[in-house]
Amino acid sequence: ASTAPNLIAAVDEGRQWDRLMELAKLGAITGTDGSPGVNRACLTPLDREARRLLISWAEGLGLTVSVDEIGNLFLRHEGTDAAAAPVLTGSHMDTQPNGGRFDGIWGVIAGLEAVQAIREAGVQTKRPIEVVAWTNEEGGRFAPGCMGSMAYAHYKPSNTWDAVADHEGVTFRQALDEHRKAEADLHHRPLGGKPFAYVEAHIEQGPRLEAEAKDIGVVTGIQGSRWFIVELRGETAHAGTAPVSLRKDAVQDMIRAITALNALMTDPTDVLRFTVGQIDVKPNTSNTVADVVRFTIDFRHPDKELLIANGDAIEPTIRSAVKNCEVTVTERFHALPVEFDPLVTDAVQAAADAQGLASLALPSGAFHDAQFMVPLCPTGMIFVPCRKGVSHNPAEYSEPGQLAAGARVLAATLVELANR
Ligand code: GLV
Ligand code: MN
Ligand code: MN
Ligand code: MN
Repeated sequence: ASTAPNLIAAVDEGRQWDRLMELAKLGAITGTDGSPGVNRACLTPLDREARRLLISWAEGLGLTVSVDEIGNLFLRHEGTDAAAAPVLTGSHMDTQPNGGRFDGIWGVIAGLEAVQAIREAGVQTKRPIEVVAWTNEEGGRFAPGCMGSMAYAHYKPSNTWDAVADHEGVTFRQALDEHRKAEADLHHRPLGGKPFAYVEAHIEQGPRLEAEAKDIGVVTGIQGSRWFIVELRGETAHAGTAPVSLRKDAVQDMIRAITALNALMTDPTDVLRFTVGQIDVKPNTSNTVADVVRFTIDFRHPDKELLIANGDAIEPTIRSAVKNCEVTVTERFHALPVEFDPLVTDAVQAAADAQGLASLALPSGAFHDAQFMVPLCPTGMIFVPCRKGVSHNPAEYSEPGQLAAGARVLAATLVELANR
């Protein structure tokens, strides 16, 4: 039944593309190369506008809309057995500050497209199918990412991030309270659940599918991630008069720390990922020795033992490298590597094969909400190619046809799982 030709034909490439382009207007930015990108931070008025647009499409289809206490948004299509655990699909609607038009949002719109095709083709499933838009996957405004899925999975309580502030000093709690007021008219549901399975569609955000001319990525799992904030505290001094030997220069200690970390994180196989992506310097003037530096660490590896060993070595490495400053290291995100369930990966593979699509099994280098669903239910992901592997960039691009192929595989996968 999953390859029913009427279901595949009901997936509408133009409709899916038009929805993506309409959503891309909400937070539209232009990249340095002229590319049309999106900056739509979570829990902002723009985010709410995008959610209202999605809700209007869902209600037009007759889906039931609900939200939970952390703002995760659900669109429900009924099966023949209302008591059966639903199959859940979706992704996120927030973007990076310099984001593209597809990261996250395509997984939500593909879910909607798949459900619409299932309804229009008159395909019955036993289980309900729910499309979810998770709150704050990116962590661009409030770090870390994946707060919505972590709370849903009870990996962390939903008040864990209350004090996390954005660049304007607005806390996550304040933004969430304001958001919930603005969505008070929506139906509220309890946090959490036990889906039968979870499938997330996403652009690859890497170059492999395009390079190997594949239509579909059958995602095998996600590598582990650990995020840290490092704070170095020294003392301000006059740049023209203070002898270097007497300084407590936080910038110089940061250089010592990062140099030592680069040595720790050296990997001839080029699998390890180590990034210092954000640096704040105080007082940030050219003729004053800096007294405070805060920098972030994003460290990722597919091997659990190495993720733990190298991650645990970060703080001692910094402490032994730094000469003059006080050191604070705070870990703010820790996601172990996960492997996806054959129940889902086999269904994705079978759908791609049945539709004559070229596929590749591959792991994900980016983290996704799917990572936190693994302990709850059989979980998997579907990737589609994106141009040159570019993502977190306005130049991010996937073709309408590539996205439609992904939505067709998603539709068939959902039907297969929802009849189990
Ligand atoms: C999420 O966007 C990530 O950084 O992998
Ligand atoms: Mn994403
Ligand atoms: Mn992203
Ligand atoms: Mn992501």
